Amino acid sequence: MRMNAGIEALAFYTPGFSLGLEALARHRRQDPQKYITGLGQQRMSVPPPDEDVVTMAANAAARALEGCDLSSLDSIIFATESGVDQSKAAAIYVHQLIGLPTTCKAFEIKQACCGSTAALQMAQALVTLRPDKRVLIVASDVARYGLGTAGEPTQGAGAMAILVSATPKLLSFDPESGSYTEDVMDFWRPNYMDEALVDGKYSIKIYLKALSESWNGYHADSGRRFEDFTRFCYHLPFTRMAEKAHRHLARITGHGELTHADLETHLRPSLRYNQVTGNSYTASLYVGLISLLETDPIDLTGKRIGLFSYGSGCMATYFSGVVVEGYREHLRADQHQRMLGDRIELTVPEYERFYEHRLPVTGEDYATTVHTCGKFRIAGIRNHKRIYEQVSDLSEPMPAASGVATLSRV
Ligand code: HMG
Repeated sequence: MRMNAGIEALAFYTPGFSLGLEALARHRRQDPQKYITGLGQQRMSVPPPDEDVVTMAANAAARALEGCDLSSLDSIIFATESGVDQSKAAAIYVHQLIGLPTTCKAFEIKQACCGSTAALQMAQALVTLRPDKRVLIVASDVARYGLGTAGEPTQGAGAMAILVSATPKLLSFDPESGSYTEDVMDFWRPNYMDEALVDGKYSIKIYLKALSESWNGYHADSGRRFEDFTRFCYHLPFTRMAEKAHRHLARITGHGELTHADLETHLRPSLRYNQVTGNSYTASLYVGLISLLETDPIDLTGKRIGLFSYGSGCMATYFSGVVVEGYREHLRADQHQRMLGDRIELTVPEYERFYEHRLPVTGEDYATTVHTCGKFRIAGIRNHKRIYEQVSDLSEPMPAASGVATLSRV
């Protein structure tokens, strides 16, 4: 039987520093249970001054491409809402850093957290037309709100890379989907700001409305029902959002109130990684998918997964895929879990120093200090150009993160 286009390889990367939300809550004079139980978050990843969306994406991409015949790559598509240039695509920096062939196209795509899903659907269409080609999707973001704001505990950072091909080894996508677009101001980031602006409660309402609408479109397109799915993945701004969304989906599809046990079975494995990385915008849904495939105790072969992608502003898509036989042999659970476990824990003042660091915006040359735990770093700015460098060989394990002692030099 011919399989639909899907995911041949999948990897994610998150910086080597994190902040515990209990420590943040105490510092901000909040009840830690608000962040831990109320939002469902335990930690958030914090990027050091020499990492950005390009270096994070390059780290994820290098992992996803291990063993891939690079000459089959048609394009690398970079989804982000933390772009580093108004003109040049971040994809071109990654293209160079990971040594892609000059025949491989490179471009950027944007619609908040949903840009990665738009890229994925373009890639599916392309490899369906040209089954000899592959497309690499990278999605990378730093979720940033103001210090001390309600959004602060929902920050995070990370990147994912998905290799899309006509010979999927992990997930084969169903061709049907449902989408919803509406011009709303629930979350946005003007060009003159480093932090997102958000109408938090309204963003949750719109997320749920977009879920209903895109589910209805998906159901009309596919005829599938809630009970046709074994597991569900949602865009994860914070993990309690998935619980709200899943309860909502059950209600609108006539399944009433779900039990705690239903939620644990349907959702829990997809939440584990995001619970300790925080929001990574475009990457977030797919970090959830990786978490599901790598931590679910049951063999998911042949099982259908429902996926909901939401991007503020807003555009949303409901789509689905079926897990491919032998998928467990192609996962990177050890690598990912080691990366999460090895992160250096920051104190709140250390996190704030990282947070406050900015590359200069006035045009002077600048060199960043070395912190990264990844294979790539931004070394600085020279003649208005971002200078990236490779820290270690792609075949070597990730280098250790530099100690927080160097933080005073940030
Ligand atoms: P808030 O208003 O400070 O929090 O900010 P709250 O008062 O709503 O409390 C949060 C939860 O904690 C509530 O649970 C409280 O009851 C509970 P709920 O009632 O909702 O079930 N709580 C407690 N639980 C246990 N013990 C306690 C306690 N106290 C309270 N002591 C908000 C929350 C999410 C609004 C804020 O963090 C925010 O604005 N975050 C950013 C926006 C966001 O993440 N929106 C999500 C939907 S939009 C989206 O996903 C797109 C996005 O990723 C961007 C993109 O697309 O690019 C953001």
